[in-house]
Amino acid sequence: MTNPEFLMRPEGREDVQALNDLAARAFGPGRFARTAHRVRESAAVVKALSHTAWVGDELAGSIRFAAINVGEHSDALLLGPLMVDPKWAGQGCGRALIEKGLELAKAQGFALVLLVGDLPYYERFGFQRVPPGQIMLPGPVDPARLLGVEFIPGALKKFEGMVQGEA
Ligand SMILES: CC(C)(COP(=O)(O)OP(=O)(O)OC[C@H]1O[C@@H](n2cnc3c(N)ncnc32)[C@H](O)[C@@H]1OP(=O)(O)O)[C@@H](O)C(=O)NCCC(=O)NCCS
Repeated sequence: MTNPEFLMRPEGREDVQALNDLAARAFGPGRFARTAHRVRESAAVVKALSHTAWVGDELAGSIRFAAINVGEHSDALLLGPLMVDPKWAGQGCGRALIEKGLELAKAQGFALVLLVGDLPYYERFGFQRVPPGQIMLPGPVDPARLLGVEFIPGALKKFEGMVQGEA
């Protein structure tokens, strides 16, 4: 079977209900307790980077980016949530959303994208582990899952300290 075509468009206000439903399907009830969720609550969503992926009129996946400060620096983003409906998993939807978001983030001059996730999935997009203790989130995070991709070689090194939402 060939992969479906995922039509991507920037997230709009009219997508709220469909996104809430998708979050329940992709993450389940534990999603509000996550540390990354706590940062995102206080951070502005970067609308131009945050996309929904559709198959016909069905929401298959979505990605969001939030503007953050890391210590003194503000040219960073927190990726998440990335959600793919289990029904459409493994068919390139996650890849398409990540590649689109990273390409736009780079073009807009951001230096770093952080996320909390599985390295075996995200390393294919250039993410690496943040050295333990370099960057902190306001809550518990498994250091093996704090990942970053730098758009300027060596940029990750300058980001040190606490992550805060840039409202
Ligand atoms: C993780 C997730 C976003 C991947 O999206 P997707 O559209 O299924 O992924 P893609 O089709 O782009 O890639 C599929 C590949 O990634 C691999 N993969 C998926 N999740 C993985 C993980 N956690 N670790 C390692 N590999 C993973 C698949 O095995 C597959 O490998 P293959 O290409 O060798 O067959 C999706 O499964 C999902 O929404 N999961 C629940 C929510 C979540 O964990 N979000 C991420 C944290 S914010």
